[in-house]
This record gives sequence, C-alpha cells and structure tokens, in this order.
Amino acid sequence: MSRLIVVSNRLPALGKGVAAGGLAVALDAALKDKGGLWLGWSGKTSDAPGPAQVHTEGAVTYAALDLTAEDVAGYYDGISNSVLWPLCHYRADLLEYNRADMDRYMAVNGKFADALVPMLRPDDLVWVHDYHLIPLAEALRERGVQNRIGYFHHIPWPAHDLFRALPRARCFLQAMLAYDVVGLQTRADARNLREALDARRHDLEETIAPRGTRIGAYPISIDTAAFVARARRARDLPRIRELHQRFGPRDMVIGVDRLDYSKGLPERLRAFEQLLENHAGLHNRVSFLQITPASRSGIEGYDRIQQEVAERAGRLNASYGTLDWVPVRYINRAFSHSLLAGLYRLSKVGLVTPLRDGMNLVAKEYVAAQDPEDPGVLVLSQFAGAAAEMQGALIVNPHDVEEVATALARALTMPVEERRDRHAAMMRRLTAFPVAVWAKSYLADLEAAQRRVSPAT
Ligand code: G6P
Repeated sequence: MSRLIVVSNRLPALGKGVAAGGLAVALDAALKDKGGLWLGWSGKTSDAPGPAQVHTEGAVTYAALDLTAEDVAGYYDGISNSVLWPLCHYRADLLEYNRADMDRYMAVNGKFADALVPMLRPDDLVWVHDYHLIPLAEALRERGVQNRIGYFHHIPWPAHDLFRALPRARCFLQAMLAYDVVGLQTRADARNLREALDARRHDLEETIAPRGTRIGAYPISIDTAAFVARARRARDLPRIRELHQRFGPRDMVIGVDRLDYSKGLPERLRAFEQLLENHAGLHNRVSFLQITPASRSGIEGYDRIQQEVAERAGRLNASYGTLDWVPVRYINRAFSHSLLAGLYRLSKVGLVTPLRDGMNLVAKEYVAAQDPEDPGVLVLSQFAGAAAEMQGALIVNPHDVEEVATALARALTMPVEERRDRHAAMMRRLTAFPVAVWAKSYLADLEAAQRRVSPAT
C-alpha cells in the first residue's frame, strides 16, 4: 500500500491539549490509517535553519521545518495571509502585495520541496494542503519527483473576475497544473477555478499529467461519531455541569471562530443587539457566548478586527447588561474539544455567520453535539461552504442584521418537533459523510491518477 505524505504549513498541535484547527483534525485520521509522514513548519524561526526535525508516533512521522524570520514575513504574513487569504475571502481591499514577498513565498516552497525529496519513496501519495503551498508540486516536479501529488484548498476559490486582481495570477494557475488532483470545498469553488484556468488557457503550459489535472469538489467533514460521543460524555464534565447551573434558565447562543475579518463578528454582534432591541422579553433570558482565539496578530486587518469586536461587545454589555446579567461573553482563548462539545450541547443556538468561509466545521460540530431529543438550532451563513449541505439550518445573509436577528428569535422559540426534524436531516448527512469518507474519496481519486513518466523515458 502507498504511504501517505501530508504537507501543510501547520503541523497538528500534538499533545498541547487545545482544539486543533479543522485541517489538523481532519487529516490525522487519514494518516494514522495509511501510515506515512506529515511535513510542516515548526512554527519557529531560526537564523540558520537546519534540516527538518523528525519524530515518530506509531505509524506516523512528523517532520518540522524551521524558517527564518524573513521567510515567515514574506511567505506566511505576506503572500499567504495578506494576499491569498484576503483575496480568497473576497477582501481585495485588504490585499498587500509586493514582489519581495512573492520571491520569499516561492523560495519557502522550494525549501519544503528540498526537505521532502530525500524522504520520498516512489510509490508515496503526496497530499498538499492549503494556499501557503500552492507552488509545491511545481517545485517538486522541478526536482524530478514523479509521484502522484494532490492539492486541497480549504478556503474559498473566488469568482474569476476577482481572482484576476491577484498579481501573478498566471503563476498560481500554472502551479495548479503540476498537481494530479486539485480538491475544493464546494462545486461553486471548483467551477470558479475551472473558469480561471479556461480563461488563461492560452498562456498556460500544458499539464504533464497523463490524464490532466482533475479538479473536483470534496466537502470536508468531521469525525461525526467521535464528536457525538464526546458531546455525550461532556455532559458529565464538572465544568459543564457548573456552567449549566450558572446559566440556569437562560438560553445560550454560541459562536466559535478564530479571530478573523472573514467571520462576520461585528455583524454578528449587531444582530444580537438587534435581537435584544426587538425583544425586550428576552432581556436577562438569553446570553451570547463568543469564543474567539486570537490569530495572526501583527497583520493589519487582524489587529483592527480585534479592537472593533472587543469594543462592540463592551458597548453592548454597557447598554444592556444588568447587575446579574452579562449579555455577551467575548473570550479570546482556545478550549479543548471536549469542553467545546459540552458548550455546544448546552447552547440553544449555534450562530455561524461568516461573510465567507471555505466550509466551516464549527457548523458541523455544533449539529453533531446536540441531544437528538432536544436539539439546538443552527443559524448559518449562506456564504459558508457548509450551507450547501446543512440544509436543516436557518440559512441567513450575514450582512442583513435584521434577518439574522429574526432567525435568532425564531431559533430560540422553535417547537421541539421542528428542531428534531431539522437536526435529524443534518445528522443523516453528517453520518453518511464523515471526514473519513472525505479523505477516502479524495485519496481514491489521487490513487487513480496515473504515475507520471519523466519526459526522457
Ligand atoms: C484556516 C486555514 C488553515 C490554517 C488555519 C489557522 O483554517 O485553512 O490552513 O492553518 O486557518 O490559521 P493559521 O494562520 O493560524 O495557521
């Protein structure tokens, strides 16, 4: 059986006791199953980075690469987070491009390729994840690698007319053609990428893949059964019992997002404020818990959004709070998966309203965590990839504060029969398509790609 080689910017937060990002959770299962290697940035900088630090846990070897501070500034802060991330989330206004960053981005991809080549065996399947590493397959091909290489884009792929705003757009499209399989979250994302490729076909060099590059939609998911079990067990956690007592008769609305301008946090707070304004009867009866681990500090858009959200939450509490009621709890900390599962289960509403999101696994986790007899309601943005699947949610336009406030009021008063029906529909989907099925179907397509032959043979 072929080994699986995963490459991503971040390695999973091994043994750190905090909830890992969606990407890490999704991949660990696939890797443990096949055995193999996971290469990523160590998260550390060094003046003279040496070879990747390797350690093995069971069937999986983790290889961590240090980068220089200049590498991180150009490749991570620069092209990844100040160009590709804002562009793919429809925020061309936040795009900050410069050529030196682009050179660094390409050079760091070269460093990943240099680290990987000596560790590769001919039959390995290589699976590259996310926008930090789009040129990696090209860099590997330049070094003579013939393995099957796939790419998965976890974030949205923008409409072609917006994608054209990307400097060196051609270079990113050409890089895609060095992959055998390119996976996106939704059919709309896949269509956008195909359109971009078609529009530039005349100035792209033909792919050397024997069957061309396959582009498809592979919506990512969660480990549904594990999450259901975790949420059931979480009921008995002392911390959850205590919170249950404390919140007592109040209904809880929960939001969990990495701090990011794409998550629609100011709009979400405005919607909650609108709910309180429209329904005086809900005062003192509903609390909104927003858990938001801070992220990417030092990058402009992030520092600004942090200030805006914190101020807005503070103002809302100042206007509506009473001696014994804090309407919004805004917390910049990460929590363990168990605690989150318990909090989801305690909450009457899961409020997931990004302005753009590749998939959004919080939406799926919230649903999986519910008690099927008395489930909470998911209020979900139409701009999250998950909206295509989670049709039992109340789907909203996150820009329309009134609409979100109305959906919140509806969710808080929804009869139990309707809540059960909606929940059951979404659980059917999550049970049929857990993360293992996602990985399996992607890897089956990658495995089916023919091995490349070098031009000389
Ligand atoms: C998103 C991206 C991931 C990224 C994660 C956390 O989920 O798709 O690739 O790892 O955000 O962001 P960070 O910049 O902290 O790695």
